Amino acid sequence: MKYGYFDDVAREYIITDPKTPVKWINYIGTLAFGGFVDNTGGAILCKGDPSLNRITRYIAQLPASEFKGETLYLRVKTGEGYRIFSPYFTPTLDPLDHYECRVGLGYTRIISSFKGIATDVTIFVPLDESVELRLITVTNESALSQEIDCIPVVEYSHPDALKQFSNADWVPQTMQSKCEREEGGRVILMQYPFMCRDTKLNYFTADFAPSSFETDRCRFLGDNEYGAWAHPGALDGKELSNYEALRGDNIAALLHHIGTLRPGESRTMVTQLGQDGSLEIIREKSKKYCDHRAVLRALDDLSQFWEKYLSRMEVVTPDPAMNRMLNIHNPRQCFITYNWSRYLSLYQLAYGSRELGFRDSSQDVMGVMDRVPEKGKDLLVKLLSVQKKNGSALHQFNPLTMIGNVGESGERPDLPRYYSDDHLWSALAVCSYVKETGDFNFLDRIVPFYEKEENGGPQESATVLEHLQRGIEFTWNDRGKHGLPLLGFADWNDTVNLKIGAESSFTACLFGKALLDMIELARYLSNARLMATFSGYYETMKKAFNEQAWDGAWYIRYFDHDGSPLGSHKNAQGRIYVNSQSWAVLSGFAVKERAESALESVFKLLNTPKGIKLSAPGYNGFDPSKGGISTYPPGAKENGGIFLHTNPWVMIAETIIGNGDRAYEYYRQINPAMKNDCIDEFQCEPYVYPQNILGNEHPQFGLARNSWLSGTSSWTYQAATQFILGVRPTYKGLIIDPCVPRSWDAYTVTRVFRNASYRITVKNPNHKCKGDIALKVDGLEIVGPVVPVFADGKDHRVEAVIQ
Ligand code: GLC
Repeated sequence: MKYGYFDDVAREYIITDPKTPVKWINYIGTLAFGGFVDNTGGAILCKGDPSLNRITRYIAQLPASEFKGETLYLRVKTGEGYRIFSPYFTPTLDPLDHYECRVGLGYTRIISSFKGIATDVTIFVPLDESVELRLITVTNESALSQEIDCIPVVEYSHPDALKQFSNADWVPQTMQSKCEREEGGRVILMQYPFMCRDTKLNYFTADFAPSSFETDRCRFLGDNEYGAWAHPGALDGKELSNYEALRGDNIAALLHHIGTLRPGESRTMVTQLGQDGSLEIIREKSKKYCDHRAVLRALDDLSQFWEKYLSRMEVVTPDPAMNRMLNIHNPRQCFITYNWSRYLSLYQLAYGSRELGFRDSSQDVMGVMDRVPEKGKDLLVKLLSVQKKNGSALHQFNPLTMIGNVGESGERPDLPRYYSDDHLWSALAVCSYVKETGDFNFLDRIVPFYEKEENGGPQESATVLEHLQRGIEFTWNDRGKHGLPLLGFADWNDTVNLKIGAESSFTACLFGKALLDMIELARYLSNARLMATFSGYYETMKKAFNEQAWDGAWYIRYFDHDGSPLGSHKNAQGRIYVNSQSWAVLSGFAVKERAESALESVFKLLNTPKGIKLSAPGYNGFDPSKGGISTYPPGAKENGGIFLHTNPWVMIAETIIGNGDRAYEYYRQINPAMKNDCIDEFQCEPYVYPQNILGNEHPQFGLARNSWLSGTSSWTYQAATQFILGVRPTYKGLIIDPCVPRSWDAYTVTRVFRNASYRITVKNPNHKCKGDIALKVDGLEIVGPVVPVFADGKDHRVEAVIQ
């Protein structure tokens, strides 16, 4: 294993070579305060919003060797002067004698040694706090005493992340730094743009009294900044200049003479990088973590949080790589996508362009429902409050201001300014919440629509149920010539942007699935009127879809404004798209033969050993009449790439038709934990799903990008736990409906559901993918596959046999 290995007991991935093919990152904190740390200690941190309240300056596009956001230098006194190096590898790039970066749950720990000096740094954000801590221990492992200085450094961003890069006069004129000295010598370096002087202050401090500091990058690097991060000029002198910058590129560097360490001797210190409203608050709050016991307690609290989160569901299957993902990394990634949507990653940089996506977050939230349903509910309320009165939704919204926008459709005045799918996802998400929790009251909760008061009148509000109904009605009233929903600017596939009048068969299917969910809900609520109306819509759409979109061996994906098909055997490029096949099955629209034929076409025409492609063949040349898809070369992203988000939908579809072998094969072939052996080709982190992998039309087939923030996480988690392992919440209880590889003998799922613990063993004595289920609950046989709700706080034993 080339760059590292998994330690499942510690629930860590341990990177052993700092020169990973791209930075491998880890998230700390939450959207409220946090960001990510890379494997060489660089960090991007934001409070509440990565576009509007950015703290560190992390420029992902700079070479991997560059300084990014935060680092640590050590300085060892030698006969002639100083030896300077970074225990994080960058930016000094010294050949460390030992390096490991432990990617943990909510923390990163970098342990390294160089020429006899060992360093162990744990980086994390305490739960619900607005400060990043670095617990730094330096040990002299050499045979001689060593005089060591420890210099942690931060580079600040203007809070407006986009302005930081677009206005190189205004930004530096506003940046201010001040030094506050506390009793005992502790220094707090404050940093803020002038206009935030009384409201929003960044600070950097350590428990150890520094002897000097620097806040101006030019002075720190030296030589009018022809000095470099690899060897800052200021570190050649005994002390830093104690300069309080009132403009310019602001940094915070603290020089600590940690003393002469005897052989074997260690020193520990803690740095704090945070943001708060006033100096008084910062003074008070920052005292807490000057006590190392408080730091250790905060680490312990963090580990308790993750223990609780992960213990809500645990599986033991015959596949260790599946267990590893389902018990640790996949639910962990779901928590991250729930927090950050597509807002902040190494690839999605939140320079004012992207916020929380209505469609994205509605899908992400389903990935955390079984673990943090209350948090899921809060996000659902936010999402519904950016739905418009007509039932459609704003495409994105800012989590701080709750101001929504129409996404990229705003840049194309010639095209509709809505996406045809956004609002429909909330039906799936709300139903998943209610099935998980049984909280039917939520359906009656009043949530405002997005439009603000008109003429001083009250803002219109409605129940959650009505929000969902309006979403359905919007699509019902927005159909085109073939009876399928109009495409709008785009549907799930952002990059196919056709002229007004185009229709989407994917949106037809999503509408069908949303209706299935709503009809099931209406049945449970005994709402006959809703059931009848929605069943009528469902049958009409099913008929139109099957009459219009069947292409012989698969389903067409779009009808253009002039009625010509995309995703048909008639097309030379973009002949088949995966989503209209998988969703034809998920929606129940495809009858058995068509479902099998469509999924077989996916297998033959779109599958590769590295994942299923979104479409094929790729468009080879920019074609403005298709839109964004043709801006990529064939094999990349939506244009024939392996766009992973779509893969779990095919897995689910395969389980619906009973093909557990294939569903599992599709699962296994994209499992990142299996990528260690081809990691130089894959390049991204083997502990999370990426968004895309280059397809086989591209010379770099197999190369992954855009790791972490992808709907792949939530959907693969749902596909595996609810459809392959088949343990799925319903209104009446937990259904046990497995569809597994026939080779499997047995597996277990232990899951908390509505205040009881279900210890489920599934046996497969006849080696089938799917079959009738014989169920025993606490030793007693029950009829049907649904284990009832107990809500008694106790453990219940469930034995299921696939017959
Ligand atoms: C990106 C977007 C998502 C979209 C997908 C396909 O992942 O975040 O909203 O559905 O691309 O275009």
